[in-house]
Amino acid sequence: MAFPVLKNDRLLRAARGEEVDKIPVWVMRQAGRYLPEFREFRSKHDFFTICQTPELAAEITLQPIRRYDLDASIIFSDILVIPQALGMVVEMRPGVGPVLPDPLVTPSDLKKLEHPVNVNEKLGYVFEAITLTRHKLEGKVPLIGFSGAPWTLMGYMIEGGGTKTMSKAKAWLYRHPEASKELLDLLTDVIVDYLVGQVQAGAQLLQLFESNAEYLGPELFNQFALPAIAAINKRVREKVTQLNLEQVPMTVFAKGAHYALEELSKCGYDVISLDWTMDPELARKRVGPNITLQGNLDPCALYAPKGKLEEAVKEMVGKFGKRRYIANLGHGIYPDMDPESVKTLIDTIHSF
Ligand code: CP3
Repeated sequence: MAFPVLKNDRLLRAARGEEVDKIPVWVMRQAGRYLPEFREFRSKHDFFTICQTPELAAEITLQPIRRYDLDASIIFSDILVIPQALGMVVEMRPGVGPVLPDPLVTPSDLKKLEHPVNVNEKLGYVFEAITLTRHKLEGKVPLIGFSGAPWTLMGYMIEGGGTKTMSKAKAWLYRHPEASKELLDLLTDVIVDYLVGQVQAGAQLLQLFESNAEYLGPELFNQFALPAIAAINKRVREKVTQLNLEQVPMTVFAKGAHYALEELSKCGYDVISLDWTMDPELARKRVGPNITLQGNLDPCALYAPKGKLEEAVKEMVGKFGKRRYIANLGHGIYPDMDPESVKTLIDTIHSF
């Protein structure tokens, strides 16, 4: 069945560098615990059960779209569904976040990973959720698909959860460069198939989250993270063409990768998403005119009084300009933020 016609294409226009009537805006983690309707829903359903049940994932994806005048939706899921598809156990613990109780410790643990992964078998539930959500959106806004990038997933798989230093995963890069490459290559293969499957299922833009880039410097990033980021873009586009599907814009968010903006801008992505520590004007100079920038309001600006938040948003837009720009936060929204402040953010962006 054909998908409903898209009524609001601001996000896609901005990603392709076309003129927009208003600046498109969406929010990382826009479906999340700051919304009372999300907390109510989560009290009844386990996190990964929601991810694995297309009706539930679609419902949660739509919550912020019903409440706000957003210009994009992002499929409700998590980057850690890939380690799960490779046979690792991932739990979402309240107040802690994701925990992998049996992490990779030594290179011989790579043998435990179940690969190659048949993504239709192991991650078909995400594809079904995407297709269902495209229908339920009724063309209101485009649907974003996403994946974690290899280094970020490697970090979780070795650390067993979030950490302050990523020292265990970084120790692999220094001590076991060959095994690290093997793991990163294996993850790249899964991610390529996973993202192509999402396009096939109806995703209209893809975002790659390299959230753990902040732990690396230029040397390690260029050696281990960047080649995979570039390969994913190239291979996804090749496969999309082979399958006679329409190309979709691709975004990369390498959090904290100040040191790599120039290199990132050569990887073929249409959009580079910036965290709040980067200056928009400097970033524009460094990536050139032909890439769309996304971001980058400090999420904590949502704690400011309304007037001050509006000022911060105006200042940000003043620096980015209206062309080749998608407004967003510099990272995900926090659970204790006021849903009203998200409305202020969206209304202020749309007022330009
Ligand atoms: O609305 C959206 O943005 C789409 C859904 C989404 C989630 N996770 C839902 C989620 C997306 C795009 C992600 C990506 C993700 N997951 C990333 C990359 C982006 C980033 O934040 O850097 C990472 C690193 C993860 C891993 C992960 N999942 C962490 C670190 C946490 C704990 C964070 C927290 O706020 O506690 C999660 C859990 C998670 N993923 C939640 C949501 C809504 C909250 C869990 C809950 O409902 O109990």
